[in-house]
Amino acid sequence: MIYLDYAATSWPKPPAVTQSMTNFLERAGGNPGRSGHRLSIAAGRIVFDARDTIADFFGAADPLRVIFTCNVTQALNLVFWGMLRPGDHVVTSSIEHNSVMRPLRALERQGVQLTIVPCAADGTLDLNDLAAAMQPRPTLVVLNHASNVTGTLLPVAEAARIAHQAGSLIMVDAAQTAGVLPINVQEMDIDLLAFTGHKGLLGPPGTGGLVIASHVDVNRIQPIICGGTGSRSEFEEQPDMLPDKFESGTPNGVGIAGLAAGISYVREQGVEAIRAHERSLTHRLIEGLMDIPGVTVHGPQNADKQTATVSITVQGLSVSEIGFRLDEEYAILTRVGLHCAPAAHRTIGTFPDGTVRLAPGIFTTMEDIEHTLKAIERICRP
Ligand code: ALA
Repeated sequence: MIYLDYAATSWPKPPAVTQSMTNFLERAGGNPGRSGHRLSIAAGRIVFDARDTIADFFGAADPLRVIFTCNVTQALNLVFWGMLRPGDHVVTSSIEHNSVMRPLRALERQGVQLTIVPCAADGTLDLNDLAAAMQPRPTLVVLNHASNVTGTLLPVAEAARIAHQAGSLIMVDAAQTAGVLPINVQEMDIDLLAFTGHKGLLGPPGTGGLVIASHVDVNRIQPIICGGTGSRSEFEEQPDMLPDKFESGTPNGVGIAGLAAGISYVREQGVEAIRAHERSLTHRLIEGLMDIPGVTVHGPQNADKQTATVSITVQGLSVSEIGFRLDEEYAILTRVGLHCAPAAHRTIGTFPDGTVRLAPGIFTTMEDIEHTLKAIERICRP
C-alpha cells in the first residue's frame, strides 16, 4: 500500500506516538488540573510539558498562550467567533479551506465585512492585491500558509507586515505546514497561529491548537465555550487566566500526549530535513506527472513554491475513476474531489469536479513515487 494522503492526515504515526498515548492511559489517566491525586498530577505534567514543547517548537515566548483545541478548525473558529463583531472587516484569500470560508460566510451574514482577495490560477497570492484590500482597516487578516489543494505557499511573513502596517492582526492557518516547514511566530511576526496535530506534527486526530503571540491583547478574544477549567472554581464566571479562558472541559490528554511524542519525532528528524525529503519527492512527482500525456498538474508546478501536495486532472477521465482505480488496482491512496475547499477549486478552475490530490509525506519513498507515476501512466493510457 502506498499512502499519499498526508494532506488529510499523516499515516503511519511513529511508534512513540502510540506508546505515549498508551502510557497516558495506563500510567497517567487522571484528569489534568482537576483532582490533586497522583494520576491527576501525572496527567497535568504531560499536558504542561506538551504546551511547553509546542511553544518552543513554534518559537512562542509564553507556553500559557498555547491553547489546545480538538483541531485547527476549532482554533480558527475560536478567533473568528471570539473576536469578530458586526461592522468589523476581515480579509482572506480565495484559496482558503472551508474551515475559514464557512465561519467567515456565517459571520458575513451577521454584519462582518468580508474581503476575499483573489489568488492566481496556481494559487499564488499577489501581495499588492492584499495591500489593496486593507481598506477599511481590517480587524483580522487570515491566510493559510499553504493550500490544501495545490500546496501553494502563501507569503505569510510578508502578509504579516502588510496587515500590521494597516493596524490589523494576522492569523495563519498552518494546517498544511506545521511540522513540514519551519514556523517561528516571532520571526514571522504571526499574531495568531492555528495548527493541527494530526498532519505534519504526526500526532493523533483530535488534537490541534492556537498560539497567541505575547503582544496580542487577549481581552479582544472572548471564549466561545465556557465551563469547568479546574481553576477558580468558586466563580460562576469564566476565568480570564490563560490558557483556562479558552480551555473549558476535560482536555484530550491522551491525544496531547501523542501529539507531544509526534513533535519530538519531528524535532529528532529536523523540520529542514523533512522539508528537503518532501521537496525532492514533490519535484520528481511533478516532473513525472507532467510527462504523462493528458495529465494537467494544477498549482505552482514547482517544489520550491509548494508543499508535498500535488493536484491533477486527466483529460477524458473523472477524478473519482482515477482515485478508485489507484486504490483498487494499485493500493495507492489519494483524496479526490473538492477537498473541503470549493473556493480554492474555483480559483484554480477545477470546480465542481475537483482534482485527484497526491500528497506524499515523511514516510513516502522515492520508490513509492516511481510506482505511483507508473500506475497513473497505465490508467491514462488510451
Ligand atoms: N483538510 C484536510 C484535507 O485537505 C482534511 O484533506
